[in-house]
Amino acid sequence: MLSVSDLDVSYGRVRALRGVSLTVPDGGSVAVLGPNGAGKSSLMRAIFGQVRPTGGTVEWDGEVISGRPAYKCVRSGLAHVPEGREVIARLSVHENLLMGAYVADRSTVAEQLEQMLELFPSLRRRLKVASGRLSGGEQQMLAIARGLMSRPRLIAIDEPSMGLAPAVANMVLEGLRKVHASGTAVLLVEQNAALALRLAEDIVVFSHGEVVTSGSAKELGPEVLDHYAA
Ligand SMILES: Nc1ncnc2c1ncn2[C@@H]1O[C@H](COP(=O)(O)OP(=O)(O)O)[C@@H](O)[C@H]1O
Ligand SMILES: [Mg+2]
Repeated sequence: MLSVSDLDVSYGRVRALRGVSLTVPDGGSVAVLGPNGAGKSSLMRAIFGQVRPTGGTVEWDGEVISGRPAYKCVRSGLAHVPEGREVIARLSVHENLLMGAYVADRSTVAEQLEQMLELFPSLRRRLKVASGRLSGGEQQMLAIARGLMSRPRLIAIDEPSMGLAPAVANMVLEGLRKVHASGTAVLLVEQNAALALRLAEDIVVFSHGEVVTSGSAKELGPEVLDHYAA
């Protein structure tokens, strides 16, 4: 279980998060929703050791991980797919995928690679292509697949639909649904609430760095969609 308690993050005088608490159960799916600037990426950075929280804690399996470097998170079964994908443009798709497996057991890498190509078939014929030449959708699929190469128990994804046409965003989401169905916990950060609600069991809504609503997607989904449509 991932457990965020009373988290504060500041950049100098800018307070990006105040008193944020949420949990992602083992095998669960949680969407963090909120407009641009709400603090969603700051939450991700605090979980993955890219900013040091000014207050509160992040625990994974009961151990405090806030302040720990990113590679240690990967070793402990967490994967982060950052905002903007951050695939390595000059390396091939295959090389990017192998980089995701750097902490994995070598004997399982080929099998895991094959699973990723089954999950996102459009990557298969692009394996030798430099990742910078992929479409935005393919780059997003690659970034997710790279995260999954380490066989995480939880994968956290920051705004996968950003900049993608709706049909392409849907393909990415279908991939994530399969990942979740296979037992991996998913923490999904999205501005696109309608899309996120197709995956998430629980939702947390951020506004100006604070949690304004949280609960089961079934109960809160319609209300959240109304709010976003307004
Ligand atoms: N590196 C930074 N330096 C200063 N302010 C930042 C930095 N990153 C984010 N912020 C500010 O923190 C707040 C939350 O940003 P962010 O977490 O990126 O939100 P979101 O991902 O929801 O769009 C915003 O007010 C943003 O301008
Ligand atoms: Mg963001």
